[in-house]
Order: sequence, then structure tokens, then C-alpha cells
Amino acid sequence: MHLQHIMLCLTAFLGLSTCNRVYVHPFNLLAYSKSECDKIESQDHSVEKTFSPIAIETKNNEEKKIQMKVEAVDFGPAERYLVPMVGVLSFRAVAGWWKLHKSENILIPNTDFFRTIMSFYLGASGNTSRSLQTFLGLDDPSGFTNCTSKVNGIKVLSKLKNIDQSFCSKDSEITAHRRTACIFVSPNVQLSEKFVQGLTHTADNLYIRAVDFKDSAKAVKSINEFLDSKLPPNTKNGLSSIDGTINFLYSSHIHFKGKVANSSLIPNHQPFWIGPSNEVLVPMISVTGMFPFTEDITTNQLLIKIPLCDNDFLLLAQPINGNTLENIESSMKWETYLNWIENLYKIQKRYINLSLPKVKIELSYNVQDLLSSINVLDLLGKNADFSKMSKTDIKVGKVINIVDFELEESDIDSNGESNATESKEKPVEVKLNKPFILALCEGTSKSLLLLGRVVHPTNSI
Ligand SMILES: *[C@@H]1O[C@H](CO)[C@@H](O)[C@H](O)[C@H]1NC(C)=O
Ligand SMILES: *[C@@H]1O[C@H](CO)[C@@H](O)[C@H](O)[C@H]1NC(C)=O
Ligand SMILES: *[C@@H]1O[C@H](CO)[C@@H](O)[C@H](O)[C@H]1NC(C)=O
Ligand SMILES: *[C@@H]1O[C@H](CO)[C@@H](O)[C@H](O)[C@H]1NC(C)=O
Ligand SMILES: *[C@@H]1O[C@H](CO)[C@@H](O)[C@H](O)[C@H]1NC(C)=O
Repeated sequence: MHLQHIMLCLTAFLGLSTCNRVYVHPFNLLAYSKSECDKIESQDHSVEKTFSPIAIETKNNEEKKIQMKVEAVDFGPAERYLVPMVGVLSFRAVAGWWKLHKSENILIPNTDFFRTIMSFYLGASGNTSRSLQTFLGLDDPSGFTNCTSKVNGIKVLSKLKNIDQSFCSKDSEITAHRRTACIFVSPNVQLSEKFVQGLTHTADNLYIRAVDFKDSAKAVKSINEFLDSKLPPNTKNGLSSIDGTINFLYSSHIHFKGKVANSSLIPNHQPFWIGPSNEVLVPMISVTGMFPFTEDITTNQLLIKIPLCDNDFLLLAQPINGNTLENIESSMKWETYLNWIENLYKIQKRYINLSLPKVKIELSYNVQDLLSSINVLDLLGKNADFSKMSKTDIKVGKVINIVDFELEESDIDSNGESNATESKEKPVEVKLNKPFILALCEGTSKSLLLLGRVVHPTNSI
């Protein structure tokens, strides 16, 4: 009921609510018909094909790469059904991280986090599969938990890809998010070929390698070397230790690089207050134009929406009148985000001169820490059942999500002011010169690709 309610709100404000399209039956993401289900239940799993990962030391430049097709995307009911699922789950995650990292930069790769959990769902059985499906928010509303109510993970992953692909799809200047996923398993682990095929839907580049975890110092070294060779230069992957008793380790890397449309770099570095009495000088971007902007005196926050590409945008929020970032964060939910967007569509645009810092942040998260902070530790824990991944008992170690985010000025417009000087009206000056909340949004589905808090515009942890 609850999920359908959220869905209704979303379709309504997207303006797609022709009567026969409002009700979206979630079953189009379910996996099996009754007859397929009976067949699967009676199947002999011992004859399934397996995949043996090559050793991490193997020099192999002939890697099979999975390229994304870039094409215009038509959002169907399944995509629209998924957007709030991803949104609700990522706000749970963000709330967890906000608590764990009180005064640091945070950027949560929302769809990537969902995709990471979905990847484990593909290999999960029994109670673990049920718990993961519940955690993802994809339970069958009728309450059944048998084979026919399983979600088709591969279908969900390909719908997520549709959402991602439409982000800045028409703008060749934007390096939208390229995703690399690496999986490391013990040499004795044979993976199910079906599971591996499913994973190919999760990344632009997928690498699976065998590593001997028992010698954990050596494993750390070879994994870090491997990641260095596959990820963009200077990526800090954050792997410092490995538990020698595990046999499965997961790492994903996602890169967003966006340019603020029609913006220019302010010649001199400008002050940014990283604390009440702690100022640093940072490169700042200036953009002047008509933007939806509000200084809300009931919630004491400033909210502005600025375009990135044709259709996609950044939402920026900052506390005002003595309000704090923590206070805004503590009440933030998916519904809050929808309200923000809805309000910004309603209000009249204003002529604004916005300065905001150039942002370059790289962060690395262990999803296992997050799961324990929101009390769902056992989801990917030692007792979890991943018998659809492998016949060997899988012990999952760290599950790492790395986010690499850059926000820059657009190089066009270096002489700037073209139209601004023509306007007699003086723009309202808005300076984001202290910590703020940032949301990166896809314009068609309003899905949230990245959400976080910028405390220091160029700090990586
Ligand atoms: C699965 O969960 C049920 C109920 O929570 C429990 O009774 C059962 O023992 C669990 N099965 C396994 C294999 O853990
Ligand atoms: C499985 O769930 C479906 C509905 O999703 C139901 O029609 C069917 O009777 C259930 N089967 C069993 C064996 O419980
Ligand atoms: C950038 O400025 C041009 C000319 O003023 C305008 O046509 C265009 O819509 C602007 N781009 C965005 C994304 O606002
Ligand atoms: C906008 O603000 C920046 C920095 O404060 C300034 O350099 C620029 O001239 C302003 N532009 C306009 C059009 O007012
Ligand atoms: C100035 O703005 C007008 C519309 O307001 C637009 O048609 C024109 O292309 C703009 N000129 C420049 C140089 O951006």
C-alpha cells in the first residue's frame, strides 16, 4: 500500500497521470510464472555451469568489456516504479552515513548502492534472498514470499541502467558516470555462470579475479595494484586491510564529472567557511541566470536548482537564519526531496548570481559498515546464504563503493557577461560559501543519482 502511495505521488507530479497509466503493477518486475517456478524448484543445481575467475596476477589485456549503448530512453512503468524504491533505500543509507560521519563530506551514489545490493540478491537464496528483497523495498505487495514472488534481478538492473543512461545523454561534454565493478574471490571458488552473466548488467567494466586471501597483506597489495590499473589515475581505493577468513570481496567505482551550464571561473580563489571560524580559499564558479530559488523562513533553508545538461540538474540547499546542516539532514526523507522539487517547479524563477565552489571529492565507503550502523548487519554477513553464487560457502568481506565527483565551470562563456550586462535588473547575489547539501538529479524521472553534504569542496577522505 505504502509503496503504491509513493508511486502515485511521483507519477502525479511528473505529469504522466493519464488515468490508465497511474496504476503500475509491480509484477512486471517479478521473475517467474507458475510453470517456470515449478521447473526451477525441481531443477538439479549440481549440473549448473560454472565460471572460474583468472588469477589476479595474470596479465590480460584482452579483457572482455561490456559497453553501454547510448540511446534515448523512453521511461516505462517499471522505471517509474523503481525510482522511488531506489530513493527510499538511499535515504536510509544516507541517514546511516550522516550519523557515522558527522562533520565530513558525504556523497552517496544512490543508484550504485541499490545496484550493489541487487548484485548480491542475484546470488542469494533462502532467507538471505527474502531479507535482501525486503531491504530493497521490492516485496510482493500480496505478501507471498515463494518462488513466483521473486524479483527478476536482471530486469531490475537493466531498468536501472536505463535511468542512468538518460543522465546527460545528449551532452557529449559530460563524462557521465562510468561504472567499474571488481569482484575478488578465493582461488577455490567457482562462481555460477548464470550469476556472472547477471553481473554483466551492473557495470561498464566488470572484472572478476581470483586472489588468495589467506595471505592478507599480499592480497591487499595485489588488489590495490589491480584497482590502480583499472580505475582512473590517482583514484584512492581505500583498501587497507582484509580479513583473511573471507573468500569474496566487492568493489565498485563510479565517476561523475559535470559542468555547470553557462558558468565561469571567478579569477581569484574565494573564501569557503569549513567551520564557524575556519576559512579556506577555494576556486569558485559563478553563474548568472534565471533559477528557481527560495529562502524558506519556515524551514530556514535556502534552496536553488541549477541546470547541468538539457534536462538534468543540481539541487543545492543551505541552512539560513542560524539553522544547521544537521537539522536539515535529520528530517530528510525521499518525500522531503519530492517536496523540494515540487516547490521549485511551482515558484517563479528569479534573476540570480550564484557563486559556488568548484567541487572535487573522492570518497570510499564500506557498505558493511553502513549495514551494521542501520542494524541489518546479517544481510551480507558470515551466515548469509549465497548458494546461487557458488557451491562453495561464500563469506563476504568488504563491499566497497567508491564515488568520484567533480563539478566544474563550463569553458564556454569565458568573457561571461554577454546578456547579463544588457539586463538593467541587478541579480540577487547568492553565495554558497559554507557547507551545503547537494543532490544530482536526472530530469526525466527525477531520480536522484547522488546525494550528499559538501563540507570541504576539495577534500577526499
Ligand atoms: C529462515 O527464517 C525462518 C523464520 O525467520 C527460520 O525459522 C528458519 O530457520 C530460517 N532458515 C534458515 C535456513 O536460516
Ligand atoms: C506462491 O505465490 C503466489 C502468488 O504470488 C500464489 O498464487 C501461490 O499459491 C503461491 N504458491 C505457494 C506454493 O505458496
Ligand atoms: C545557456 O545560455 C544560453 C544563451 O543565453 C541559453 O540559450 C541556454 O539555454 C543556457 N543553457 C542552460 C542549460 O541554461
Ligand atoms: C557575479 O558574482 C561574481 C562574484 O561575486 C562577480 O565576479 C560577477 O561579476 C557577478 N556577475 C554579475 C552578472 O553580476
Ligand atoms: C541574449 O538573450 C536573448 C533572449 O533573452 C537571446 O535570444 C540571445 O541569444 C542572448 N544573447 C547572447 C549573446 O547570449
